This record gives sequence, C-alpha cells and structure tokens, in this order.
Amino acid sequence: MYLKHLSLTKFRNYQTADVVFEPGINLLVGSNGQGKTNLVEAIRYLSILRSHRVAGYLPMINENSTSALIRAIAVVDQRDALLEVELHRSAANRARLNKGELPKLRDILGFVNSVIFAPEDLDIVKRDPSNRRDFVDELVVQVWPRFAGVFSDYDRVLKQRNSLLKSARQTKTTGSALATLDAWDSSLVKYGSEIIEARLDLISRLTPHVVQAYRSIASSNSQPSIDVKSSILGESVRGFFDEEPDGAESMESVVGLSRAELEEKFHVKLAQIRPKELERGLTLIGPQRDDLLFKLGSLPVKGYASHGESWSFALALRLASVDLLRAETKTGDPILILDDVFAELDAERRTRLADLVLSNEQVFITAAVAADVPSILKAKPYFVVSGEISREPIASASNQTLIAGDQGER
Ligand SMILES: Nc1ncnc2c1ncn2[C@@H]1O[C@H](COP(=O)(O)OP(=O)(O)OP(=O)(O)O)[C@@H](O)[C@H]1O
Ligand SMILES: [Mg+2]
Repeated sequence: MYLKHLSLTKFRNYQTADVVFEPGINLLVGSNGQGKTNLVEAIRYLSILRSHRVAGYLPMINENSTSALIRAIAVVDQRDALLEVELHRSAANRARLNKGELPKLRDILGFVNSVIFAPEDLDIVKRDPSNRRDFVDELVVQVWPRFAGVFSDYDRVLKQRNSLLKSARQTKTTGSALATLDAWDSSLVKYGSEIIEARLDLISRLTPHVVQAYRSIASSNSQPSIDVKSSILGESVRGFFDEEPDGAESMESVVGLSRAELEEKFHVKLAQIRPKELERGLTLIGPQRDDLLFKLGSLPVKGYASHGESWSFALALRLASVDLLRAETKTGDPILILDDVFAELDAERRTRLADLVLSNEQVFITAAVAADVPSILKAKPYFVVSGEISREPIASASNQTLIAGDQGER
C-alpha cells in the first residue's frame, strides 16, 4: 500500500498542509524543528492510533487549536481509501472512512500499515521493558487490528482494579468486601491472557524474519532469538515493589503455553500475591509488566552486546517488522519511515540500509541535511519549513545549506 495524499489541519506546527506523495522514495528535508517528524508522526498515527513520541494525543493538536485533522488517501490493492481522523481536546476523537463516520476510532486501523526507523530504536534493545512492550504491541495492532479493542478493555479493567486496590488499602477493607475484586480479577485474566497469547503468536511469526534480517546486516554467526517473559509466572517476588519490575531476567518464559494455561497461571498467581497487592494498592502482575528477552547466541543483548551488535539487532527488528507485515496483512508492503536515521550512520551502514529499503513500495525519509542520504535514495525532495511543505526550495538561510548539501558542496 502507499499514501498518495496527506493533508494536515492544525496538527502540531502545521496550520494546513496538503501534499501529494508518490510510491517509492519520498524525501523530506528541512532544518531542525521545522516539522519533518511531525509529518511522519501523523502517518504513524493512522497506522497504530498512537504517537511514537508521546503518550496521549493532546500534544499533536496545534497549541492554538481545539482540534486537529489528519486526512489521507491510501492506495490499497489499487483502490483509494479516504481516511480521516479528528482529534479533539475536549470531545471524543472520531474517524471516517470514505466520508462515512466509523462507529469507533479504532475501526480506521488496518488500512495504513507502517514501520518507523528512528535513532531511538536502540532504546528497544537497551532500555526499559516498556520500550519492548510498545514494539510488540504496535505490531500486534497492525497485524490484528481488533486487538486495539482488547488493549483498551484491558487498560480500563486495570485502571478500575487499581483504584479498587488503592481504596481498599486506604480503608483497610478485608474479607467479603473484596468480593468485587474477584470480578475484576476475572476480566484482568481474560483480557490479559489474550494479550500475552497475541504477543507470543506475534513473536513466533516475527522471529524467523529477525534471524534472516540480522544475517543480512551483521556479519556475525550469532543467532538472534526472542523470549517472551511474563510476571504471571514463577515464585519470585523480586521487583514487586518497583514501578517497573527487574525486567526479563527476573521473569519466566511463557513460550509454549496455551491460552487456558496462561489464564490458569494468571489466576493462581493473583491469588498468591493478593496480600501484596492490597499492601501496595496496585496491580503487580500482568502484561503491563511483562518483557521480551532478546538474545544473540546464548547471551542477552541488553547488558552484553556491543554497541554495533545492539544497533544491528534493533535494525533487524525493524526490517523483520516490514517482512512480517508484508507477509501477514492484506495491505502488502507497509509504509517505511526513516526518520533522521542516516545522519547517525557511517557510510557503509548508510549504503547497506539504502539497499535494503529501496525496493519497498513507499518510503519516507527525513533528513536535516540531504547530503546525508545515500544518492540512490535521493528523489526530488519536499522542503519542510515552519510547518509548510513545498516542492521548491524556500529561500531561507537554513535552506541555502540544504540545497548546497544536496549538490554535494558541503
Ligand atoms: N502542538 C503543537 N503546536 C504547535 N507547534 C508544535 C506542536 N508540537 C510541536 N510543535 C513544534 O514542532 C516543531 C518540531 O517539529 P519536528 O519534531 O517535526 O521537527 P523536525 O523537522 O523533525 O526537526 P529535527 O530535524 O530536529 O528532528 C517544534 O518547533 C515544536 O515547537
Ligand atoms: Mg525530527
């Protein structure tokens, strides 16, 4: 699939922007802070209904506006689909498909699939479990859009259960008054196990692609692998009093467990830790605390791999995501977004990455300096200046550098 038209109204620093895009390479150049990432964030929002930069959607509405509009024409299977998403500061967000109002915002999912590469991708392998959960959940939602509903059901149950635990702690509620907690436990287990099962399924489909992608970018014999670790298993109580438990190392693998087994183990562990949850006033286990363990050979990537290996692993995860979406969804090639990645890479890696993305149906590349982008990826650029997009260079001091850079005069 590809996007042939994008229009933004009061989105971030865009008042109104109306752009026609092409299949193949679309290069967006502009100095820092002009709106390049904002534009690709809008495309990302259409594919996962989340920003890759912030929690919540309010920061995406222009500071002087009460609402924002993202409108796009996606070409899926040679047919146009007009997608519209309205974000409101103080009303429900809405979505339309071919001008028809959709019952739920999330019904817009499944038309625009995308994979983004950004310098922060290293966080997926190096930082907190939440980075890894976001990575897998964003793919789950794109492969099976109905999971957006499961995630939101789970979040709702988790919030309610947490507030019940919190008030139980404050009022020192005991015994029969806690019967309502049992009801919440059942919903938590039901939706939670569904999420854990989906992550397992996703990771088992993704892993062969990761192995292949890693081989194509790293000249190494180490075999990458991914384990799904869950807080619903095991006797360990380590980390229960932290906001975020110790992570993958302190949890057990759920690989190979069926949904029924996940549910049973989840229930057992909840009963076991109830006193701790009441003491803490917080839900201490569930998919919101789980983690993925990435390994190269027998060693974890986090804490052991070199910088170069970590980088290759992160890149392999993204390339594998592209392959997975191509293989598992009806929309074919996902839109590939390379936000500011070339500036970070040495010449050899630039060329290798360029080779890998060149054949994708549509690619968006952002760069502050066009000369950083390998020449085989240089299409006629779009210039981004202060929330305006133009195909002709806009004569400003910063753009003079860009144009000069484009001609290799730097
Ligand atoms: N809600 C908003 N309303 C108005 N302006 C906003 C809003 N959110 C972000 N901005 C502005 O958008 C600009 C950032 O744009 P963006 O992140 O797209 O820059 P960029 O072109 O990707 O720059 P870089 O090359 O540094 O990555 C900032 O100047 C910021 O103040
Ligand atoms: Mg940017």
